[in-house]
Amino acid sequence: MPRVLLTHRILDEGLKVIESRGWDFVVADGTTRDRLKESVTQFDAIISMLTNKFDAAVFADAAGGPLRIVANYAVGYDNVDLDAAKQARIWVTNTPDVLTTATAEMAWTLVFAASRRIIEGDTLVRGGEWKGWTPTQLLGRQISGKTVGVIGAGRIGQAFAAMGKGLGVRVHYFARKSKPAFEAATGARWAPLDWLLKESDIISIHLPSTPQTRGLLSAEKLALMKDTAILVNTGRGNVVDEAALAAALRSKKIAAAGLDVYEKEPEVHPDLLTLPNVVLAPHLGSATIESRTAMAERCAKNIEEALAGRRPPDALIELT
Ligand code: DGY
Repeated sequence: MPRVLLTHRILDEGLKVIESRGWDFVVADGTTRDRLKESVTQFDAIISMLTNKFDAAVFADAAGGPLRIVANYAVGYDNVDLDAAKQARIWVTNTPDVLTTATAEMAWTLVFAASRRIIEGDTLVRGGEWKGWTPTQLLGRQISGKTVGVIGAGRIGQAFAAMGKGLGVRVHYFARKSKPAFEAATGARWAPLDWLLKESDIISIHLPSTPQTRGLLSAEKLALMKDTAILVNTGRGNVVDEAALAAALRSKKIAAAGLDVYEKEPEVHPDLLTLPNVVLAPHLGSATIESRTAMAERCAKNIEEALAGRRPPDALIELT
């Protein structure tokens, strides 16, 4: 019977999905690097979290052993060295599509929370400091009618833009190439990055972490933004220079931000923790019961195929 390791406990609905396959299934409660290096020599399949680093050394230990697949329980896969996996002839898969809506909703959640100053209001009320309605209390900015800049137009960026249609916003996007089908469906228009940063009232980042995207939102780029603008990031934290962002928020160079991802999770730049004009979420993009259950289903399907000697549907590399 194939041995399958889940490196971290997931929701019960998801566990049931995997248990139903009848594998010899082990659920760990998180895993250390040493444990991971040991596990890759013992299991046929591993369902990994984005917090598990599968680097060249880990795959070197796995090469020639029983491990057939690392099924990442995430759409992002910057925690996995794909070249090393290929060399070790181990499939790597992710969970696309099933968390698109949840993550796009999270991005809008941060836009609303930041622009309408929800956390500041909540703090005021809970702290017993609220003395009643006043005409100037915690004024924010309306979203409808604004220009929204989407950076990265993959599945999640496109879903975020599509949701904007109902809000009456104008959407421009920056991606390596223009996407005619997306433009036709949503009315979004491609724009150069600098133009997008200068013209947008709301900017939402939907980029993975790659050598090309790391540090893209530098101090220089943040300086192009309007001082009334809001920046939201649900992609990967290291796309933004966190220290530069904290400085821009502190000096009111930009109005507010909403972050779900950070440069060095779970660390958050200490300056951000002191600022009222940033909403800080603990990487909750895909954290809905619906998404996390469907992600388990996706991992199970990928494992099933790999163990049967077939190409898993969400393969991130080709093993020919
Ligand atoms: C992913 O799946 O990559 C997301 O960041 C999880 O929220």
